[in-house]
Amino acid sequence: SRDAEPFLPDDPRARRDLDALRRAAARCEGCDLHENATQTVFGTGSAGARVVLVGEQPGDQEDRRGEPFVGPAGRLLDRALEEAGIERGDVYVTNAVKHFKFKRQEGGKRRIHESPNAGEMRACRPWLLAELRTLEPDVVVVLGATAGKALLGSSFRVTKQRGRLLPLPDLETIGTPSAGKSIAEETSGETPDGAGARLLATIHPSAVLRADDRDAAYAGLVDDLRVAARALA
Ligand code: URA
Ligand code: SF4
Repeated sequence: SRDAEPFLPDDPRARRDLDALRRAAARCEGCDLHENATQTVFGTGSAGARVVLVGEQPGDQEDRRGEPFVGPAGRLLDRALEEAGIERGDVYVTNAVKHFKFKRQEGGKRRIHESPNAGEMRACRPWLLAELRTLEPDVVVVLGATAGKALLGSSFRVTKQRGRLLPLPDLETIGTPSAGKSIAEETSGETPDGAGARLLATIHPSAVLRADDRDAAYAGLVDDLRVAARALA
């Protein structure tokens, strides 16, 4: 089935160049989501970022503006990062899926977010892997289930795996189908200090906005981000 792979640059150097990747992703037709969305929303941030934050997919405002995490969830995330002591200049933000998926409210013009399905997540994964291989961050923070599944496989559960440093799967082999099982197995434990790159899972900032107890959900997000911050210190 279709995926983003044919739309990545052929030149190996361009595959490790964020601007070249961004230009290529702007033309991606690796799944149907490009048909109704305004534009590809590629990741943004410093090429020297030590932390990469991975969300689900762009929302309504991100789709219009072409940048990740610039809407309500993004503002909450910015506040949580600051509270956790992670500097914006140390961070690159992106999404597991690069086009906004939505349905139109009946009779209205409001666009309602729809979660990407497994096929769309799989189709878009080459862009996320290319970003991570290029950036080689120390810590990848996955925000919510979609991003977690993109890197750890379908058995990933936020509630079980959040808030502790896990080993980041090998980015060179993760794209191969046979890697799926071993990734889930490898990441069931915790990583000793001083090992390689880490992955930290936490809840999605949109889940904080929807939570019954928003203050508690927000505090949990900040606590998890502090674990990532300590890994950088
Ligand atoms: N939610 C996401 O997952 N990503 C964004 O960029 C905005 C909202
Ligand atoms: Fe390509 Fe991803 Fe957009 Fe699908 S969602 S068209 S794979 S960039």
